[in-house]
Amino acid sequence: MKIAPSILSADFAALADAIALVEAAGADQIHVDVMDGHFVPNLTIGPPVIESIKKRTRLPLDLHLMIEEPERWVETYAHAGGDMITVHAEACVHLQRVLSQIREAGARPGVALNPATLPAVLDFVLDDVDLVLVMSVNPGFGGQAFIPGTYPKVRQIRDRLGGSGRQGRPASEVSIDGGVKVSNAGELARAGADVLVAGSAIFEASDPGAAIRALRSASEVSK
Ligand code: DX5
Ligand code: ZN
Repeated sequence: MKIAPSILSADFAALADAIALVEAAGADQIHVDVMDGHFVPNLTIGPPVIESIKKRTRLPLDLHLMIEEPERWVETYAHAGGDMITVHAEACVHLQRVLSQIREAGARPGVALNPATLPAVLDFVLDDVDLVLVMSVNPGFGGQAFIPGTYPKVRQIRDRLGGSGRQGRPASEVSIDGGVKVSNAGELARAGADVLVAGSAIFEASDPGAAIRALRSASEVSK
């Protein structure tokens, strides 16, 4: 199981320290939440801050774009340092085109699905996707409660993606975002998750490193 700390719950004035801490504790990638105040009712950070973060870590940056018209920004975010760029299916009129654009820009393409979005939106873009980000809260804020309907949805998505890679690429990963805690990590692993994104569970813990290790062992013990 990969653990992706979401820096949304970190102290934005001390991001470098927060990232160094989770990197030393064995985090696999850094999840960066980009919000535009339109697609979601909140605003966060954009390309200049991501460029600065990129210089401070060797970990891959997993950019979660919660923005309208992401096609206008893909190249900018790839250039800023996004290794994985995930767009919301609900924000893309031409989803397949945006995913190709992300790959063309040199990043791994991901699709995020809001809790009410059906997994069927993935059916005709399976060849274009490296990562499916299953939202287990309605996006916009950290610290919200996990929606239990996520478990069967993760199983359905895992089945759709299959186990092996397409077109010579590794199999697509299923990542879960929102309300992930030690208490649900095991069940998410059994449902087929490959990556757990966690913000408050890590950065609001008294020992973020221990929180990462606890999430990992909860997901591995129960597999
Ligand atoms: C929510 C973001 C999440 C958020 C998760 O819109 O996409 O990445 O940081 O925070 P927690 O883990 O606190 O639910
Ligand atoms: Zn996120």
